[in-house]
Amino acid sequence: MTRVLVFGAGGRVGNRLALSVPGEIAGKFLTRSECDITSAGAVQDAVEAWRPDVVINAAAYTAVDDAESDPSRAFAVNAEGPRNVAAAAASVKARIIHISTDYVFDGETRLPYTPEDQPNPLNVYGKSKREGEIAVRDSNARSLVIRASWLYDTEGRNFLRAVLERMMKGQPLRVVADQVGSPTSAAGLARIVWVCATHPEIEGIHHWAGLGRASWHEFAVAIQELAISSGLVKSAVMIEPVTSAEYGTPARRPRFSVLDSSALSKALGRSPDPWREALADSLSQVTRA
Ligand SMILES: NC(=O)c1ccc[n+]([C@@H]2O[C@H](COP(=O)([O-])OP(=O)(O)OC[C@H]3O[C@@H](n4cnc5c(N)ncnc54)[C@H](OP(=O)(O)O)[C@@H]3O)[C@@H](O)[C@H]2O)c1
Repeated sequence: MTRVLVFGAGGRVGNRLALSVPGEIAGKFLTRSECDITSAGAVQDAVEAWRPDVVINAAAYTAVDDAESDPSRAFAVNAEGPRNVAAAAASVKARIIHISTDYVFDGETRLPYTPEDQPNPLNVYGKSKREGEIAVRDSNARSLVIRASWLYDTEGRNFLRAVLERMMKGQPLRVVADQVGSPTSAAGLARIVWVCATHPEIEGIHHWAGLGRASWHEFAVAIQELAISSGLVKSAVMIEPVTSAEYGTPARRPRFSVLDSSALSKALGRSPDPWREALADSLSQVTRA
């Protein structure tokens, strides 16, 4: 059995990890109330108590817009936190798998980002996440950073749920059409994190995101098409495409943050599903629920 300790178990990815523990893994899951990763002592105690082979850090401050006005909190959780987790992992000779984001890139390209591409985050959240990546890389622990993008889930607060809820109430939507990325299922990411947990040879920075690309507007239109065809939503609502400037958020976001997952796909011998297929699969589970 591989012993795994997961921080941030109450979040989208943490929750999906908890729901999909493979048979060969003995997992221990800690939510923020059980262990705050900004406390080096609490993290060390947790690691010493469970003595894991692998530590997964799924904890993060993910409020991209709020981070602009609360940078110290964002850096505490997204940079100091992973530093604490990596140091504790190193102290018991455990590997660390740390989750990061497409928002470490500036979006000034039209080619999918590979792990070798130079990060240049545009906002506080992205800067804090990049600092976390560096802290993990520079620690004494063997490490794997998996960058994901545009995570959605059938539960909790996220783009898919928010859009579906408005559609179910017949409310129109304004959705940004000039940011392009790769919608990624949190459940699919969790599956690949578990595979990586038992592949110690996979190290460094890797990318994992739904195959293909879409704007947020195209993503919302696809959600509507699939939700109508599966009977989840009765009739179409207006989905107005708007620019980032018209939508107006405190944090700047990259115009293009499609991730190239081919290196990790090759290493594992499996590739992410095309985003639309993964979305259809997720929506079929909402229908059944
Ligand atoms: N969401 C996306 O679209 C997206 C895209 C790319 C990459 N990512 C990355 O994917 C990873 C997982 O994100 P997610 O979508 O699962 O985020 P999430 O749903 O916001 O979950 C993050 C979890 O971390 C917890 N947390 C916050 N501060 C903490 C602390 N100091 N100590 C311990 N736990 C703490 C949160 O607890 P509370 O709920 O109690 O605050 C929450 O349960 C993150 O590294 C994120 O940067 C996310």
